[in-house]
Amino acid sequence: MLIATAAATQHWWRDAVIYQVYVRSFLDSTGDGIGDLAGVRVGLPYLKKLGVDGIWLSPFYPSPQHDHGYDVADYTGVDPVYGDLAEFDLLVADAHRLGLKVLIDIVPNHCSSAHPWFREALAGGPDSPARSRFHFAPGRGADGALPPNNWRAMFGGPAWSRITEPDGEPGPWYLHLFTPEQPDLNWRDPAVGEHFDAVLRFWLDRGVDGFRIDVAAGLHKHPELPDSPDPEADERSRDSVNPLAWNQPEVHQVWRDWRAVCEEYTARDGLDRLLVGEVSVPTAREHAEYVRPDELHQAFFFHLLSARWDVDAFRRTISEAMRDIAGTGSTVTWVLNNHDQVRTVTRYAGEPSGEASGLGPARARAAALLMLALPGAAYVYQGEELGLPEVVDLPDEVLTDPIFRRTGSRRFVRDGCRVPLPWTGHASPFGFTSGAGAARPWLPQPEWFAEHATDRALADTRSFWHLYRDGLQLRRSLPQLGEGTLRWLETPPQVLAFVRGDGLVCAVNFGTEAAPAPVTGTPLLASGDCPPGVLPGSTAAWWISDPATTAPLFPPASSPKGPTA
Ligand code: GLC
Repeated sequence: MLIATAAATQHWWRDAVIYQVYVRSFLDSTGDGIGDLAGVRVGLPYLKKLGVDGIWLSPFYPSPQHDHGYDVADYTGVDPVYGDLAEFDLLVADAHRLGLKVLIDIVPNHCSSAHPWFREALAGGPDSPARSRFHFAPGRGADGALPPNNWRAMFGGPAWSRITEPDGEPGPWYLHLFTPEQPDLNWRDPAVGEHFDAVLRFWLDRGVDGFRIDVAAGLHKHPELPDSPDPEADERSRDSVNPLAWNQPEVHQVWRDWRAVCEEYTARDGLDRLLVGEVSVPTAREHAEYVRPDELHQAFFFHLLSARWDVDAFRRTISEAMRDIAGTGSTVTWVLNNHDQVRTVTRYAGEPSGEASGLGPARARAAALLMLALPGAAYVYQGEELGLPEVVDLPDEVLTDPIFRRTGSRRFVRDGCRVPLPWTGHASPFGFTSGAGAARPWLPQPEWFAEHATDRALADTRSFWHLYRDGLQLRRSLPQLGEGTLRWLETPPQVLAFVRGDGLVCAVNFGTEAAPAPVTGTPLLASGDCPPGVLPGSTAAWWISDPATTAPLFPPASSPKGPTA
């Protein structure tokens, strides 16, 4: 039942739903076992049908692929494995014809050690001016054999590597917050900012609608590069942040400059461009500083992604975002999955105790409906709409994530969420690979991927795919959804419920026992079977509650438990 057409928001990005395409694993058109831009083009009608507003493409630039393209050797090219610039142009044109926006990934914190700048810095010897574009520093200890400080790399080991000078002598060290093949750029050298200004314009001139900015709280480091007070804490979790290497005040000027570039293009043609930052900072308040009106348009709010499957954790996280981010006039950008995280179906199965509960798919479906009902923008990671679980048993020998190589541990390894998508049929490559080579997909697909293939998903109205498609359709047509505010309702324990606008109620039962539904009548959309009057465990639903006839059964929450946002 589609009731009314939502008034177009003034800025399309404030409540857009963007689909993250991990190009390498989306669709392979050449038969080499690796996804490519031509494959993305083939998949565009599928994404249009799903109902997203646009796509974000993971990096496709020339790269030695030490971190699957997050080690960029040329910021204005296309790696031959993914296609070429002509193919990119065709992709943008096709997407625009379908009304889909195109965002590309940009990686300004570091480049590849194969980038000409870094090569020049190494080859030029100790006095090379090219070294000022990176962080070179003398080692400590009598012969400089110890790193300049105690910082740890995000992917394991020290954040410094020592170079050998062209004359064979041991030289200084250079900083890399990820792998040694990803030297950090020195944003205090103006040449770096000038370079990226030109890169932005290059792609904007080719028609992109915006950029997903990698490590957007990085870039500047503390000018003195002092020791970290707690290097082990910096390494304990992939999300912890060394406060000397991240979130420095100077980074905000970069986002102001980049916003100004976007505004310049908007002034020419009236079309909004979008900057979305990968911002991992400890609090929602710090997060909000990145989305001030003259900085980034959006920043992924990762706190929802890292919240445990727990009603209080979700309520608290959402309330904080609404108060500290939306409360300042910015939009909140929700995300549950991406190419760096264990997929929700698997993650939620192991919560809260770590024991696999079998409830992963039901909870992942419920979380999806919740996310699509929240005020603001949302990102969906490829395969999420198919309910793909993480592939947790890839053998060591096929793992490609540098985290595995650098730490020797499978703990944070990301290959399991990057296995090439299943499209059709009953056996690998499930239609992922076509074309002359017929090579095997770059990561092996398990047999059970057949259950999740898009052909099955489209044919089964109870699939994840239909849930996402229906949710997206309603979101587009109901004026209550998208931008705006929410009002919490007082609920039984284990249930979270809120009202959007004049009567769209969303409720999620985090428990395993059924609870009374907050609204009488049949839901508009539910993540599982949901008879009138009942909200089963691990289920979310949306209702329209007409205040005249079907007032919510749960009263509005009184502060402070449920702040009105
Ligand atoms: C970001 C990317 C991740 C990459 C890292 C280094 O966190 O999402 O995939 O490995 O940056 O560029």
